[in-house]
Amino acid sequence: MVMQGTGEKDRINIAIDGPAGAGKSTVARKVANRLHYIYVDTGAMYRAVTWFMLNEGISSENSEKVLQMAQNMVIELKPHENGQMVWLNGEDVTPYIRSHQVSSEVSRYAQIEGLRTQLVHLQRQMAERKGVVMDGRDIGTTVLPDAEVKIFMTASVKERALRRFNELNGAEEITLEQLEIDIAKRDRLDQEREVSPLKCAEDAIVLDTTDMGIDQVVEVIVSHCISHMDGEK
Ligand code: DC
Repeated sequence: MVMQGTGEKDRINIAIDGPAGAGKSTVARKVANRLHYIYVDTGAMYRAVTWFMLNEGISSENSEKVLQMAQNMVIELKPHENGQMVWLNGEDVTPYIRSHQVSSEVSRYAQIEGLRTQLVHLQRQMAERKGVVMDGRDIGTTVLPDAEVKIFMTASVKERALRRFNELNGAEEITLEQLEIDIAKRDRLDQEREVSPLKCAEDAIVLDTTDMGIDQVVEVIVSHCISHMDGEK
């Protein structure tokens, strides 16, 4: 397993898609660290826009206004030891974007076609020079259809709710049952929307992580990437 000396020209892009709470972001970040790649959390971009709109009192039904406001928005993703920081218009919004309110509204804003076009454009720019691990819902199908490695991560609704519950660690007053209901609802909205729905790319590797630990999942993905890179030489 030789990573040293991997030149810029050998770099690949890795797309990680899957439903809410499948562990994509933790895994994607670790894979990026292992390969010395850049991690791009696209969900955080949709969340930052949602937080902004909710703060400004702009409903997801008013798509015209949403698009108008989004046009002048500056979103930056900055690496941080605990994950990724999201800055919006020069302000660090990382602490706000995972609130229950943002989580329950984000799918509605993510359905707005023009907003997706703007964010997809930004995401493609971030991956232009390769060496990116990008996680989301439509990365392998729409954002980076030419990504060299595509992973579709899933886990049962029960397991995903449990992971979110443990992640929140009492920070919000919400029961495990309510989280299960919310996740199932979000799955439905993400899968049924007309523009870029959550869908497994035909050439993606499907990983059901219900009974897998994070490090085990990371290992499978990294091994696959390395085999791919070795195969290309
Ligand atoms: O991965 P996440 O839970 O942080 O994503 C938040 C929401 O953003 C999710 O409900 C769907 C939406 N999303 C999307 O539509 N497309 C992406 N590429 C990433 C996220």
